[in-house]
Amino acid sequence: MTRLAFFKNRVVPLDQARVSIMTHAFNYGTGVFEGIRGNWNPDEQKIFIFRMPEHYERFKASCRILRIDISYSVDDLCEITKDLVARNGFREDIYIRPIAYKASEAIGVKLHGLEDDLAIFVTPLGPYLEGDAGIRACTSSWRRIDDTMIPARAKVTGLYVNSALAKTEANENGFDEAILLTSDGHVSEGSGENIFLVMKGKLVTPAVTDNILVGITRDTVIRLAADELGIETVERSVDRSELYIADEVFMTGTAAHVTPVVEIDRRPVGDGRVGPITRRLMDLYFAVIRGQNPKYLSWCTPVAPTLASV
Ligand SMILES: Cc1ncc(COP(=O)(O)O)c(C=O)c1O
Repeated sequence: MTRLAFFKNRVVPLDQARVSIMTHAFNYGTGVFEGIRGNWNPDEQKIFIFRMPEHYERFKASCRILRIDISYSVDDLCEITKDLVARNGFREDIYIRPIAYKASEAIGVKLHGLEDDLAIFVTPLGPYLEGDAGIRACTSSWRRIDDTMIPARAKVTGLYVNSALAKTEANENGFDEAILLTSDGHVSEGSGENIFLVMKGKLVTPAVTDNILVGITRDTVIRLAADELGIETVERSVDRSELYIADEVFMTGTAAHVTPVVEIDRRPVGDGRVGPITRRLMDLYFAVIRGQNPKYLSWCTPVAPTLASV
């Protein structure tokens, strides 16, 4: 099976989708990307791509922030992606990575007057955080980059150095994930996830103005909590100390799904086990993303793998 990518406006074998070491984005981090999941449904023998148009809307917004001009509409991007997923032929959970970037082979730190390009690849991806029984997190000594520095609502490649510093520090100190605070000390998000607290039967999550990526899983959980469980979400600034008194904490992300956090800074969250509201949201979420809940099928784009190649 030849793996395929979308590169320079056409589908090519993945090993031919290569850029020069002089590429602007490689040197200066001037790209934006998305992470979209396709979830294998064995009964239907199809991959269900989850909330693809919403991911491409955010992709286009990231492009606007970084002054990247790609000619494709959200509909075009969805069609290209469906075709690529089908032709790659994977029969397992996948991750789709669109990336738009400053493609000029040029020295010079700027955004204007450069060529832009788009690439999309697909790769198998199982669980990102091994977290069914809950993960152990720490607050990071690294602070989340502010909107006035590099906007976190845009998924900018260079911004992920901030996440990588925090993640490696956390892992090397024996934790599974880092929780980054804003420069004024409020809870922002994980290295690649949004964060929720359960407090007195409500969900509390940092506001979009606290330098978070405005997560699509975050939105999914807010809607499932309201519509299926009658649970309200409060979006507001969250103090670090609230992490220590929350009844439950969980993280959300396309890669991480809904992951319970059972320990923060070596303190147990609640009774140190996965809480009941987190568990109910996980159960709902995992059925929804695999196209197993008819009520939310409009969030899924089913794609049958084919054996066709280039
Ligand atoms: C920094 C950061 N925050 C939050 C998220 C969660 O966003 P989403 O649920 O749209 O994947 C991600 C994942 O892409 C991320 O990288």
